[in-house]
Amino acid sequence: MSKTIIISNRLPLQISLEDSNLEVTPSVGGLATGLKSFHKDGDSIWIGWSGLTEEEIPENLLDDVKEKARKEDCVAVNLSEEEIDGFYYGFSNRTIWPLFHYFMEYTEADKDHWETYKSVNRKYADEVLKHYEDGDHIWVHDYQLLLVPNMIREKQPEAIIGFFNHIPFPSYEVFRTLPWRDEVLEGVLGADLIGFHTYDYERHFLSSVSRILRHQVNFNEITLPERIVKVDSFPMGIDYNKFEAAAQNHFKNTEEQRTELQRRLDHHSNETPEAKLILSIDRLDYTKGIANRIRAFEYFLDNHPEFIEKVRLVMLAVPSRSNVPQYQRLKREIDELVGRINGKFSTVSWTPIWYFYRSMPFENLIDLYTSCDIALLTPIRDGMNLVAKEFVATRINQTGVLILSEMAGAAHEMNEALIINPNNFEQISQTLIQAIEMPIEEQQQRNKTLQKRLKRYSVEKWANDFMKALHNTSQDRDAFKA
Ligand code: ADP
Ligand code: F6P
Repeated sequence: MSKTIIISNRLPLQISLEDSNLEVTPSVGGLATGLKSFHKDGDSIWIGWSGLTEEEIPENLLDDVKEKARKEDCVAVNLSEEEIDGFYYGFSNRTIWPLFHYFMEYTEADKDHWETYKSVNRKYADEVLKHYEDGDHIWVHDYQLLLVPNMIREKQPEAIIGFFNHIPFPSYEVFRTLPWRDEVLEGVLGADLIGFHTYDYERHFLSSVSRILRHQVNFNEITLPERIVKVDSFPMGIDYNKFEAAAQNHFKNTEEQRTELQRRLDHHSNETPEAKLILSIDRLDYTKGIANRIRAFEYFLDNHPEFIEKVRLVMLAVPSRSNVPQYQRLKREIDELVGRINGKFSTVSWTPIWYFYRSMPFENLIDLYTSCDIALLTPIRDGMNLVAKEFVATRINQTGVLILSEMAGAAHEMNEALIINPNNFEQISQTLIQAIEMPIEEQQQRNKTLQKRLKRYSVEKWANDFMKALHNTSQDRDAFKA
């Protein structure tokens, strides 16, 4: 029986070493959290990196790492420290990531990083080929593996290959600056079907293909000499039922079952029942606009002192890519901003910002989603932003207001949210007031519509739509040949 081979940089589980023992934790990030439920329910294997470098895994634990992955139908790709450095911290996160998010001033063009990126992509492709059997569907994910589709195609010309990009695809004018732009496009074009979160990313990609490689593009089809490649948008959803059920269960918790975080949050609302909690959750990443968000919050308090002691910003930033200098600088900048603003506005009974820099277990995420009144998500650029969708899904009585940046892919499907430009502090400030003062009926009306849509376009539907389209594309390919 044929299977699906999922392949992404990281596995949905991350293995780490604690006191010489292997610990398994779930991966953070939209790709892993979203695709996990598809993988769990279907007949698939998932190939990716375990989170430990070759040097970190003691000889006697090598088999245990494989076994931990195997238990979850995963195959761990072994990567050395040098490979992680050039491939992950290097080309993926110092070249492609900033370029595709329009941070051109952060984009490096290092030939050694590019060489390592190529060889590691080859390693992933070879791992897929080891597991591939005729009829399998191969689904390659994200910007770390742009060359993999063609590397598989060269060895298995008949393979059915899909590729999905979880981050934006930039406009041609930005993409064309990449020294290895031809190779990158040719790599992706090894796929039969290429998916993006939004139509804008799709058309930017098509425009780059037609202008750089000069391939013929008709509507959403690219004609190569030997095949047709289809390109389409598939906005990724969330496991709606999981978040809804978690929120329902959360409210059934007895006093003893409540987490420490929940007790603190409840304490806050008992002490100041009229004060609003404003939530933000992101990986600590410059694309997420965290520093700007804090500055906008300062602007709001400066210009509307009547809200002092009436609001609190609860900010969860999850450590991410901390070997990359920009992330280290951002961390310092946020620490300073939070310290300065708390120093400037705090009163004896109130601190304006609660800042957590750590990963949290799922139940704490649910505590935050359900206890806050407003979610303030202000990315400068974001492929999708699943946090926005998760916040709405957990509002089981339909109250709560989502403020969302127009630069997030999710904004295209979430018109009922309050949409803002993350660089416009005055607009953010006014929107915060609108959210704080929004009547309950209006909140419920907006969330009801959003929830209906999110429930319908769940992650399951996203994955099934993509796989169905991939299947159809492969049938069209056979017809094209005939
Ligand atoms: P990105 O993929 O850029 O990280 P998304 O908003 O699309 O951004 O996805 C983030 C995912 O990571 C969400 O599914 C969210 O629930 C999860 N997540 C965020 N913070 C944490 C955390 N502290 N612990 C566990 N999961 C988290
Ligand atoms: O959604 C973009 C993305 O880079 C995913 O590929 C990844 O799962 C997530 O963000 C987290 O990033 P990283 O794997 O670098 O920690």
